[in-house]
Amino acid sequence: MSKHPQLNRHGELRHLLTIEGLPRDVLQHIMDTAQGFMSFGDREVKKVPLLRGKSVFNLFFENSTRTRTTFEIAAKRLSADIFNLDIQRSSTAKGETLLDTIANLEAMDADLFVVRHSESGAPFLIAQHSPDHVHVVNAGDGRHAHPTQGLLDMMTIRHYKRDFSALRVAIVGDIVHSRVARSDIHALTTLGVPEVRVVGPKTLVPGDLRALGVRVCEDIDEGLRDADVVIMLRLQNERMSGGLLPSASEFHMMYGLTPERLALASPDAIVMHPGPINRGVEIDSSVADGPQSVILPQVRFGIAVRMAVLSIVANTAA
Ligand code: CP
Repeated sequence: MSKHPQLNRHGELRHLLTIEGLPRDVLQHIMDTAQGFMSFGDREVKKVPLLRGKSVFNLFFENSTRTRTTFEIAAKRLSADIFNLDIQRSSTAKGETLLDTIANLEAMDADLFVVRHSESGAPFLIAQHSPDHVHVVNAGDGRHAHPTQGLLDMMTIRHYKRDFSALRVAIVGDIVHSRVARSDIHALTTLGVPEVRVVGPKTLVPGDLRALGVRVCEDIDEGLRDADVVIMLRLQNERMSGGLLPSASEFHMMYGLTPERLALASPDAIVMHPGPINRGVEIDSSVADGPQSVILPQVRFGIAVRMAVLSIVANTAA
């Protein structure tokens, strides 16, 4: 596999597998393209023919509400034919391998796969084994990457803060199991954010993140002080193998975002969360539903970002 399998020899995006290693101009091109799609939801006819005749397969081997639905909406708005494979009823349940499933869908003239999988690297594997005309978009793989979430998070920050060059961004919670945290860190550092903080207990924050240029804070007050953007993360219980936390209520006491803690951040700080949120664990309802929360706008921006990614990769040659 080449060093940047997601870019062709002209540096154009033909798969989106990870934000790590993507140049700043590629991230900006995706956001600028998404900007053009932002008002689509308000139009009477919410469609453009950019993907007309293309077959997009949504392959979600792991649960999803936001990502799966917004990819489907995005593909439909681009006039693609979209197929949601029902994994529970597919032949995966009979022991068919991932690559055999993919080969069979390619035989049905698939043009683009949107893949969520609990195994880190599954979308890479598919991209590696697919013919040149097939494109792959990672919709979240294990604890590795969630690039479209990272991009929609950047779109949200750009919308509310305009400029990345003087921001303090705090990412709080279960960092170690979070593919969103990893994608956000790569995107924020590439876009020139001078201060990225990761905040949480030692058991949930890998110290080696310092190598990526982020500041590690065990003390939430220190992590939140004067932050312009606060990104809260869910405890990923499904990826924990026990013993990392005393209890959810203790986590809330130590790291939950309450109105009092949010008051330590900049007065115009925005509060983000990729969802699903666990009210009363990592975030209080009064904050999640409060005036500084942009959690639902994030979801809306996700449609425009996914339209941008699908339209860019589908129209990029090998
Ligand atoms: N943010 C996110 O990935 O949400 P879903 O799991 O609902 O897709």
